[in-house]
Amino acid sequence: MVQSYSTVRSLKEKLQSERAEGCRIGFVPTMGALHEGHLSLLRRAKQDNDRVVCSIFVNPTQFNDPGDLEKYPRMPEQDLQLLDSVGCDYAFLPSVSEVYPEGFRLLEIHFGTLERVMEGAHRPGHFRGMATVVKRLFEIAEPDTAYFGEKDFQQLAIVKKMVQEFRIPVHVIGCETLRESDGLAMSSRNLLLSAAQRKAAPLIYQGLRMAQEYIPHQQPAAVKELVTRYIRQSPLLEVQYFDIVHPDTLESLEHWEQHPVAQGCIAVLTGGPRLIDNIRYRTDA
Ligand code: PAJ
Repeated sequence: MVQSYSTVRSLKEKLQSERAEGCRIGFVPTMGALHEGHLSLLRRAKQDNDRVVCSIFVNPTQFNDPGDLEKYPRMPEQDLQLLDSVGCDYAFLPSVSEVYPEGFRLLEIHFGTLERVMEGAHRPGHFRGMATVVKRLFEIAEPDTAYFGEKDFQQLAIVKKMVQEFRIPVHVIGCETLRESDGLAMSSRNLLLSAAQRKAAPLIYQGLRMAQEYIPHQQPAAVKELVTRYIRQSPLLEVQYFDIVHPDTLESLEHWEQHPVAQGCIAVLTGGPRLIDNIRYRTDA
């Protein structure tokens, strides 16, 4: 059975004794409403480590929209069953005041382009709150290795940068995006899609994939236009941004020369939840 902890002290004590016995600890931070995407990270963590810890914490500081925080799906009992089913050893479900004791200050991050573009531009404060909680959770769990999804491509880049900048002794591993059979990237927010929005949503990944057919014959600006227009065929989907960027620096590409691979990153408004996705392109067809 997965063992559930809600205080920093009790989890820290447990993990310190595991570490003292030589156990390698893998960590998967989440906000719950677990799906196969989360479970794939947990399975990978289980393969690589002696013990696996999963945190479930809907982190208020990374929500720039109070409505989004309020609506965010919460289903801890089902989550614990799923954690059990993949052999997760420890679940950490802290309260807000455990994670943010009085006087706790948000982390200052100055990561330039990485945090300024795309999600950074459209969700002010989001990455600061995300980096703050991930650093805090790393300090609590002190894992050897932590697992993040490529689904949140920019988040993964920022976590890697943060670990470097703050010299946090943890390996960060990126894991591929799991999708529904119609291509929609799995996400806890998909639960909030209406039937009509859910039906339209696969256009996002179809659009992302379609772009590969135009690369490198069309320049990035033209490809972005084509993808945006394709997705707009549904009146329910509004492309908030679609950019094609350098996979490491996240700088927008103006042309394909010297860039054998590129990352297409998209955010779409549905009238319900806001959805993000991304894809890797080869540009030397
Ligand atoms: P959450 O959205 O719950 O995601 C937890 C982890 O699961 C993240 O690393 C995310 O990239 C990964 N993930 C989500 N959907 C996935 C999919 N379809 N395939 C593979 N991996 C997927 O991301 C967060 O929570 C938070 O920002 C967090 C890092 C926990 C900090 O609060």
